[in-house]
Parts: sequence; structure tokens; C-alpha cells
Amino acid sequence: METAGLADVFPYYAGFSFEWACHQLARHEKDELSGATVLDPWNGSGTTTLAAQSLGLNAIGLDLNPVANVIAKLRTQDYLQVDEIVRPHAGAGVDMCVDADPLAAWIAEPTVRRIRQWHRVGVEIGGPTQDLLTVSLFRVIREATKRFEGSNPTWVKRAKESSETVLIADEELDAAIERHVSFVSSRVESQSSLRRVGIMTADSRAMPIASNSVDIVVTSPPYLTRIDYAVAYSRELALLGVDISNDRSLRSGLMGTTLIRRQEENPATFGEVGSNLLSLIRKHDSKASSGYYLKQAQQYLTDLTSGLDEITRVCRSSATVHLVVQDSFYKDVHVPLADICIDEARMRGWALRNEPDRFPVRRTLTSLNKFARTYKKGDVAESVLTFSRGQ
Ligand SMILES: C[S@@+](CC[C@H](N)C(=O)[O-])C[C@H]1O[C@@H](n2cnc3c(N)ncnc32)[C@H](O)[C@@H]1O
Repeated sequence: METAGLADVFPYYAGFSFEWACHQLARHEKDELSGATVLDPWNGSGTTTLAAQSLGLNAIGLDLNPVANVIAKLRTQDYLQVDEIVRPHAGAGVDMCVDADPLAAWIAEPTVRRIRQWHRVGVEIGGPTQDLLTVSLFRVIREATKRFEGSNPTWVKRAKESSETVLIADEELDAAIERHVSFVSSRVESQSSLRRVGIMTADSRAMPIASNSVDIVVTSPPYLTRIDYAVAYSRELALLGVDISNDRSLRSGLMGTTLIRRQEENPATFGEVGSNLLSLIRKHDSKASSGYYLKQAQQYLTDLTSGLDEITRVCRSSATVHLVVQDSFYKDVHVPLADICIDEARMRGWALRNEPDRFPVRRTLTSLNKFARTYKKGDVAESVLTFSRGQ
């Protein structure tokens, strides 16, 4: 497992490598980097913001998933002085009501209660130590609930009845939490930040960022592969108090979601490559292609192009955008995401500056799904696209 840039502390789905992000930034001329602001509008676990920080650049990272932002903050905060984390005493929080706790979808009530006692310790301490404890609890919960992950690691099941939930004796749970706290502490120990990084829970379709203020974008949006980041991180969201089974707002706002939102009155229009993909999906003879799957692809392209509109607004005219995207397949239809991005970016005044580096991807989500295998697939590639404003 990759350890550079603390990638092993809480591996994030579809994260790119810290070394790659550093390399991509370091390729810029010195005068382009001086005083530069780097943005990642789909920041995930904060690889871009960490890379920018480590090169002494100002960085802003946005992600709608609050779980991602806890990890991104952990990786960029100052840990020269970690507050002491003391085991909560057994009677702490007897008043706590854990009946309707979203963690109860996987974990038995007495264990949820003990996790909440620990969580409260973090809330009371606050600051970077709270994030350190929260990520340690993410790790403990993942370890304890592994059995709810199927062959598709991003589709997490829930217990059908309470007898299936995980019960851990307090003593054993405390020891596990302390083991993870000590591991995470050892990884962030003596981490001192040169630069403050702005990590925000915000939407890439409406960025809380001034126009003409960003110099370099390094980012990777969700792909059209039906990964639902809210389901993939449902256990960690539950620890943060978000119950995605009751509250659909986060899940439905995430790009690539499998939920279909109410259709806009004035649906977005797309360039030739995107429109062609939609027409191939519409004409596909398999069930629901012209219904649900067409709507999902339209919704995905609407979110992608809104993100590109916002990138265009916040970037200075001299800015450079590095975009990592992966092609995929919808049944036997090739989803040429790199070409769609090149086309949509061109329509917004961006010119491709490189011959795209295309890396073969062996393990795609479609190849994990046994039903999807009945359709023959070509190879899929991940591409790195670099854009600047066209003349
Ligand atoms: C491919 S991942 C980025 C991974 C990141 N490069 C890393 O190294 O961890 C895409 C991210 O986009 C986020 N996302 C999805 N929809 C979003 C939206 N509307 N606004 C902001 N972020 C969103 C997801 O939560 C996910 O973290």
C-alpha cells in the first residue's frame, strides 16, 4: 500500500498518488508557482491540497462528502502538539440515546454507545486532535464491519436484522481504538504545516470561491462508473451523524450518484461527443437504457459541465487545469470521458496542451460486476489532460 503523503492512513476510493500530484505541480515554471493558488474542486482525501502545501503553495480543496474533508484536513494540519486523548470512563454519556443512531445499521447498541463516548471525547477536544480521533474511529469501524462489504467494495450492505450487527466488548473496542489512535498519531507525528490549506465541504457546481482567483487546478471528478460515494462512505458518514438512508440530500448531490433527481425545467445541452454518448445509450436495446440509465448519464454530464463552468469562472486567464479522468463502458457502449472533457473544455475556451497520457486500467468497476461481463469490453484507460486557455 502506498504510504507517501499519508495515503495509507485512510485509503480513499479513486484517489490519485501524492507523488504524481507533486510531480504535476513541480513541472510548472518557477514564476507560475510563485504566489500561486491551487484548487481541487473534487478534492477527495486531499491529495492535491497536500501536494500543493508541501511545495509551499496556497491550496483550496472542495468536496461535498464531509468524510473526505476530515481525511484531507488530517493530512494537511499541524500535529506538532497533539492533545492527550484519554479513554472515556464507562458511565460517560449515560444520557445518550443511541436507538436511532445511524451506526446501528451495522453495529449493536452497546458498541454504538461506546463509540459515541469516544466520539464525544474528540468533539470536546476539537481542532486537529478531533480529526485524528475521528479518522481512528473510521478505521476501527471499517475493520469491525468488513463483512458488510461485497465484491464491489463501494457498495456497502446494511444489517437486515439486529442479530447481524457487530457487538464488541468495551475492553476489546477500547484497545482497538487506542491501537488505531497510536498508528494514526505515529503517521502524523511532527507534521508541521508550512501553509494553511482551505478545505471546505462545498459543491463543485457552486463553488464558494471568487472569480479569477485560481492559478492551477489539479483534479479528478467522479467517473461515469456508477460509484456512489455516499454509499461507499455510509459507515463513516454515520459516525459524523449523517444517515443516508433517511436523508437523501447528500447522496443525491454527489456527482455520479445512482439516484435520479427531479429533472430540470431547462435541461443542459452538451457538445457533440457527450450528445453522441447519450444517443447511443438511448438507442441501446437493453432494459431501462432509454429510461433510468439515460437519465443517470444526462445527470452526470450536467454535473460535470456545471463543474467545468465553475472552474472556468474561478480561474485566471493564465490558469492551467490538470484533469484525470477514466473512460468506462455502459454495457458494450464505450464512455469516452476523456474526449467528452476535451470537447466540453474546448467549448468553454480551454485548449488541450498535451498529448494525453493514457494509462491502462485493469480493474474497473464494470469488470467487478458479473452481470456486466456478458458484454464484451475493450480496454479502458485513465487519461491525464492538461488545459490552458486557448488563444
Ligand atoms: C475521484 S474522487 C477524488 C479523489 C482525490 N483525487 C483523492 O486523491 O483522494 C472524486 C470526489 O468528488 C467528490 N464529489 C462528488 N460530487 C461532488 C460535488 N458535487 N461537489 C464536490 N465534490 C463532489 C466525491 O465525494 C469524491 O471525493
